[in-house]
Amino acid sequence: MPDVRGDFPILGRSVHDKRLVYLDNASTSQKPRQVLDKMSDYYHNTNSNIHRAVYVIAEESTAKYEEVRDKVARFVGASDRREIVFVRGTTEAINLVAYSWGRSNVNEGDIIVTTEYEHHSNIVPWQILAKERGAKLEYINIDDNGELELDDLERHLATGRVKLVAFSLMSNVLGTISDASRIIAMCRQAGVCTLVDGAQAVPHMQVNVSEMRCDFFTFSGHKMLAPTGVGVLQASRKMLESMAPFHGGGDMIREVHRQETTWNDVPYKFEAGTPSIADVIGLGAAIDYLENIGMSRVRDHEVELTEYALKKLGEIKNLRIYGTRDISKRGGVISFNFEDIHPHDVAQIIDEDGIAMRSGHHCAQVLMEKLGVAATSRVSFYIYNTREDIDILVESLHRVARIFKVE
Ligand code: ALA
Repeated sequence: MPDVRGDFPILGRSVHDKRLVYLDNASTSQKPRQVLDKMSDYYHNTNSNIHRAVYVIAEESTAKYEEVRDKVARFVGASDRREIVFVRGTTEAINLVAYSWGRSNVNEGDIIVTTEYEHHSNIVPWQILAKERGAKLEYINIDDNGELELDDLERHLATGRVKLVAFSLMSNVLGTISDASRIIAMCRQAGVCTLVDGAQAVPHMQVNVSEMRCDFFTFSGHKMLAPTGVGVLQASRKMLESMAPFHGGGDMIREVHRQETTWNDVPYKFEAGTPSIADVIGLGAAIDYLENIGMSRVRDHEVELTEYALKKLGEIKNLRIYGTRDISKRGGVISFNFEDIHPHDVAQIIDEDGIAMRSGHHCAQVLMEKLGVAATSRVSFYIYNTREDIDILVESLHRVARIFKVE
């Protein structure tokens, strides 16, 4: 991994007179100068709406925006640029599917299956849909290693009532990487649709949706060096064409008359209103940046850091680490708890050492219930993190242990 830290202006700042050690990448990543400059250049030199006007800067804006669609399609291995719908983020993408696909495909008595380690964004939209349609929401259990029990999925599929299985490719709390190809193969065999939440995976590993063969794939830009406000829904053209629009408004129409409207082609049918143009351009710059490093190097770097962190954290007395120790089955996210110390206290004390770490339920309260805790501490790594960051974390956690006398 090349030393990329100099590309990230925020990493040069200090917190409580200490250098910032940013370990909350599962929440959002930092942004390199290359992304910030591209966005700033857009606002300085090209700012204008897209798909609407014929003057020079408007055509330039449209070209820059549409160029990113090609880049995203290539980056995730989609077979056609028209499979890429720009949305605000993973949450919006999943809601789009729940409203648009869900309302015409899920009926009374049907079952939607998700998992016990889902983020709320892959639970709540399905709960709303299930309540409205008289359907049921079921969960794939996780085992003691924090891995999905695929026998449990088999049991759900055997009911013959399952319409959709929605699961994340990587858990935002345990870091578990789902066995997506196996899950999708099982679902396809049963004629069941699949939605894969790639929010935690796409920033950290090579993903290929054509090989994965899921029906819907979603991810966010802001966890992969891009700004907030942009994300992607990927689905086949056939699937998108079969779905009703989600939001009505400008750009998603072909013709509007007093009582009737006809829809634009996909993906524009799902992109109503002025989109986050600069953010999409920022996403394109983020993809360039990651491709320049190479996704296999990104993954290798995180595997190395995670192995190192698991070893060092494992040496701290009375600290419980959640999830599998099998590094091939997990990403760079580690949740842990100190016996008898509330995670918020831990986070507050280590903040004094300049460490940014999330504590709480991580928008995964179903998982917290399963683990039998209200909250955990969570660190998550990215390309700019180093072994030294982990050493600082471990030293700071020893300080917490001394303060609370658990060492
Ligand atoms: N999904 C983000 C997280 O896990 C916000 O922290």
